[in-house]
Amino acid sequence: MADHQTTPDRADGGVASAQDSLTVTDNRTGRTYDLEITDGTLRAIDLRTIKVADDDFGLMTYDPGFTNTASCRSEITFIDGDAGVLEHRGYSIESLCERATYLEVAYMLIHGDLPTQPQLDAWAHDITHHTYVHENMKKLVEGFRYDAHPMGMLLASVGALSTFYPDAKRIDDPRERYMAAVRLIAKMPTLAAFAYRHNLGLPYVYPDNELGYAGNLLSMLYKMAEVKYEPDPRLERALDVLFILHADHEQNCSTNAVRGVGSSQVDPYSAVAAGVAALYGPLHGGANEAVLRMLDRIERVDNIPGFLDGVKNKTERLMGFGHRVYKNYDPRARIIKKNVDEVLEVKGTSAKLEIAVELEKRALDDDYFTSRKLYPNVDFYSGLIYEALEIPTDMFTVIFAIPRTSGWVAQWLEMVGDDQQRIARPRQIYQGRRQREYVPIEAR
Ligand code: CMC
Repeated sequence: MADHQTTPDRADGGVASAQDSLTVTDNRTGRTYDLEITDGTLRAIDLRTIKVADDDFGLMTYDPGFTNTASCRSEITFIDGDAGVLEHRGYSIESLCERATYLEVAYMLIHGDLPTQPQLDAWAHDITHHTYVHENMKKLVEGFRYDAHPMGMLLASVGALSTFYPDAKRIDDPRERYMAAVRLIAKMPTLAAFAYRHNLGLPYVYPDNELGYAGNLLSMLYKMAEVKYEPDPRLERALDVLFILHADHEQNCSTNAVRGVGSSQVDPYSAVAAGVAALYGPLHGGANEAVLRMLDRIERVDNIPGFLDGVKNKTERLMGFGHRVYKNYDPRARIIKKNVDEVLEVKGTSAKLEIAVELEKRALDDDYFTSRKLYPNVDFYSGLIYEALEIPTDMFTVIFAIPRTSGWVAQWLEMVGDDQQRIARPRQIYQGRRQREYVPIEAR
C-alpha cells in the first residue's frame, strides 16, 4: 500500500476539510499525497514535499507566462473572462463608465470604496495641487532627441521622479505611500504632455488647476496662444470614460511588473517606471498603436480577406483581438465602441472606422477566430478614439499609462500591505551544460 503524506499546515493557519484537498499519487515512488486546496488553488510550495529521495529538491510547477499561477490575493479587480465580466471593488465597469468620473474610480481603487462628496473634494484637491513637476524635469525631457518615442520619455521621467522624492523610499510610512500615490496620479498627465510637446517642438504647457483631470490633459496637449484653453465637454467626458476603462485590469503584464519590481521594496516611482516599460510592449499597451498601423496597412475594406488569410497563415497578427483572460467579448471593447461614435459625432467620420467595423465582423464570422475564442479587446477601438482626438499614434500608450497609474498604485499599495508577499523570485528548469573545463582563449 502507498505511503500517505499530508502537506504542511496552511500559511493562513486555516484547516482544510477532506473535500478541500487533492490526492495525488507520484508514480515514480507509489507515494500518495493530500494537497490542500484553498480558494480553488494549490500552494505551489506544497509540491516540494513530493520527492523521489530525501535529497531531491522536490516537485515544482512550470508555468511560463504565469498562465495558471495566482501570484497574490487581491480585492481590487474581478474578471470573469469566460462571461466577459469586469468589476472594480465589486462595481461593474459598465456602471462606472456610465456614472462615475475617473478621479472617483481612482479613489475607489486605492481606498476600497467610492468616496463621499467631502472625500472626493479632498482627493480632487490633492491630485490637482500636485500636478506641477520640478522645473528640472523640463530639462530632462528637453535632453531627448526631437523624435524620441514619448513612451521612452515617460519611462525615464517617471523613474526620475524617485530622485525628486527620496523620502518615498520609506515605504513603511503610510504618509509617504499616500503622497507617492497622489503625486504619481497627479503628475503622469503633466509628464505625458511634456513628452508630446517635446516631439512637436512646442513650449510645455503648465497644468491648469481650474480644469478637471481629463480637461487639464487636453489643455496641456493642445493649448496654444489662448489665455485659457476650454476643452469641449463631450471630448473631456469621452477621455474620462477611456481613463476609467484603462484604470486597472488585475494581474496584467505591467501590473505584474510593478508588483514584481516593488517586491524588492524599491520606491513606488521606480516600481511604476517598470510598469510603464512593460506597457510599452506591442502585446500589451502598445497594441492600440499596432491596431492603427494594421488598419493603415489594410488600407481598404477590399483588402480585408487577404489580410485575414495572412493572419491564419500566421504571417500577420490581428492586433486588438485576443486576450489572455477574456475568452469572450472584452466588456471594455463594447463600451469603447459606443464611445467612438460619440467622439466621431464631434470630430467627423474616420475611414479607418469602416475598415475596423468590417474587420471585426468578418473575424467574428470566421471559425479560425471563434474556435480560438479571439474577440476584440479594449485596444481594437481605443486607437480610433485617440486618433479622432488628434492624439498622434506614438502617444497612444502614453495616454493609456495615465489612468493605469491608479491601478498600478492601488496594486502596489495592496502588495506592500500583504504580509504573505515576498520578493518575486521564480525558479527555473536549468537545461544548460554543467561543469565544463575553462579553456584559455588561444586554445578555443
Ligand atoms: N491574431 C491571430 N491569432 C491570435 C491572436 C491574434 N491577435 N491572438 C492569439 N492568437 C492565436 C495564437 O496564434 C494561438 O493560435 P494556435 O493555437 O494556432 O497557436 C491561439 O490564438 C492562442 O493564442 P496565445 O498566443 O496562446 O494567447 P495568449 O493568451 O498567450 O496571448 C495576447 C494573448 C493578447 C498576447 C494575444 O491574443 C495577442 O497577441 N493579441 C494581439 C495583441 C493585442 O491586441 N494585445 C492587447 C491585449 S488587451 C490590452 C492589455 O490588457 O494589454
